[in-house]
Amino acid sequence: MTEIKTFNSIQEFITYRDALGQDTRVGFVPTMGALHQGHASLIRKASDENDICVLSIYVNPTQFNNAEDLQKYPKTWDADIELARANGAHIVIAPQYGEIYADGYRYKVMETDFSKQLCGAHRAGHFDGVLTVVMKLLQIVQPHKAYFGEKDYQQLQLIRDMTKTFFLRTEIIGLPTIREQDGLAMSSRNTRLSEEGRKKAPLIYKALTESRDPQVVRQTLQAAGVEVEYLEDHGQRRFIAAFIDNVRLIDNVAI
Ligand code: PAJ
Repeated sequence: MTEIKTFNSIQEFITYRDALGQDTRVGFVPTMGALHQGHASLIRKASDENDICVLSIYVNPTQFNNAEDLQKYPKTWDADIELARANGAHIVIAPQYGEIYADGYRYKVMETDFSKQLCGAHRAGHFDGVLTVVMKLLQIVQPHKAYFGEKDYQQLQLIRDMTKTFFLRTEIIGLPTIREQDGLAMSSRNTRLSEEGRKKAPLIYKALTESRDPQVVRQTLQAAGVEVEYLEDHGQRRFIAAFIDNVRLIDNVAI
């Protein structure tokens, strides 16, 4: 069984990382914790394809545009460490706000086009926060490969473009969405659904895959009391964000 080493201090991690040198292949999985099987699939892949698998657990405040969503974000540290260990992670970094944002978030990475669409059109500044923290984490970890889920497809695409744009050496790997048996995309926020809401939630994926007509998808969801924030086709994919019990759920499928 692998032993896990945890770092709260970025400086201490950097010392450790520098000692590994460039010959040790490092795979990296950034997360906000409350880990589930979606995260587990990224950790397993990172662990399989590299010498060392580094996981970060950091609930990044700059990407939340809603104070309640940030405050209610689930925290399950002990279970996270166990899931990480069981799936092959070697290192967990859990940085503090003061060290990550020593600049007080004066410096940002911003994308001005795609980040303003879909989720970005409804969550002001969300992708600035995501791109900024991912840029910082990639600089800290200096991974050969970093792993992201297609569950957050827009995020994956923006991060891919960012690494290309800034000539980062990390290869970005995208992995398919892991779903519950009933089709619901796994998400840390699913635990915030009521029993009734949880029963409704699989309808999002079901409606998305059952009809090619966006109007039909909307009607099916609205009839079931699922509030659609957006439903849009972009390239070869259909994207949705919807509210159930005030919990915001997103999904996307190939079309
Ligand atoms: P978080 O929501 O914790 O997700 C961490 C990674 O797990 C992301 O790459 C996400 O796409 C992936 N993931 C989540 N649910 C998944 C599922 N059902 N199947 C496959 N992969 C899934 O995304 C973030 O954190 C943050 O924005 C972060 C990138 C860490 C920056 O703060």
